[in-house]
Amino acid sequence: MSVQLIAENLCFYYTDEDGNRLSGDVLKNISLKIEKGSFVAILGHNGSGKSTLARLFNGILVPISGKVLVNGIDTSDDDNIYEVRRHVGMVFQNPDNQIVAAIVEDDVAFGPENLGISPKEIRVRVDNALRAVDMYDYRLHAPSQLSGGQKQKVAIAGIIAMRPDCIILDEPTAMLDPKGRNDVINTIHMLHREYGLTVVLITHYMDEAAEAERVIVMDNGEIIMDDTPEKVFTKPEVLQAVGLDVPQSTELLWKLNMSGIPVPINAINEEDCVDTVINLFT
Ligand SMILES: Nc1ncnc2c1ncn2[C@@H]1O[C@H](COP(=O)(O)OP(=O)(O)OP(=O)(O)O)[C@@H](O)[C@H]1O
Ligand SMILES: [Mg+2]
Repeated sequence: MSVQLIAENLCFYYTDEDGNRLSGDVLKNISLKIEKGSFVAILGHNGSGKSTLARLFNGILVPISGKVLVNGIDTSDDDNIYEVRRHVGMVFQNPDNQIVAAIVEDDVAFGPENLGISPKEIRVRVDNALRAVDMYDYRLHAPSQLSGGQKQKVAIAGIIAMRPDCIILDEPTAMLDPKGRNDVINTIHMLHREYGLTVVLITHYMDEAAEAERVIVMDNGEIIMDDTPEKVFTKPEVLQAVGLDVPQSTELLWKLNMSGIPVPINAINEEDCVDTVINLFT
């Protein structure tokens, strides 16, 4: 599998236009590789540097030192920025800040229009993208009439229409109700499965991270864990030490242990948890 995103000894702090420092060290010597076609979740307490890392991978920010490579392209060279954005699309927390047009299909067309794609090709891409997120029937609606989850799917369609090979979502479900959350997360998984899209999902929801192939935990500008969800979530004490929760099923098994019932802490979703508890009695 080829590598999609690389951070090499990446250091970052915020500065003003004159280069005066506006923050402490936000990213401290981060090295990381994200494989093409993988599904990676990034967890971390508020202020740990997740959004900053996302902005560096999309070229919105450039490193103070170290390197960021997107499909081998160095993001710190201004000439490459168009190419970087073509490969990596970003979806943010608030759908209202991302929607620019008064009609759904115009909104989805906005990104490809900016890439200079022909109107005929844009038509095809917009229809396909809206079908992919199951919003085709709403193509002539006003975004303001949609629910939060539907708006977020339109924002995702706008990215998909630019045909990136990687999508970074920065807490895309934070402002949604449970149904909207579910809908958006299912859509992201479908895009990963069907289109082989590389997905980087920044989230505060442990159950969303549990469904990823790989979980990266950040704390105070550093990566403190980087492993499968099974490995990460079965170390509840490490997560708690950096102010994070574990999925509910892990917590249940953990609490059983604390109460003197020695069950293995090996389940990160409901089905596995049920199996583990049943095994206690059989
Ligand atoms: N524009 C900015 N100027 C100065 N400091 C900033 C700026 N943006 C972020 N920071 C600081 O950088 C650090 C990391 O912020 P970042 O937004 O990357 O964290 P995060 O992990 O995404 O947090 P959250 O979970 O709250 O979204 C924080 O200490 C924050 O105060
Ligand atoms: Mg953030």
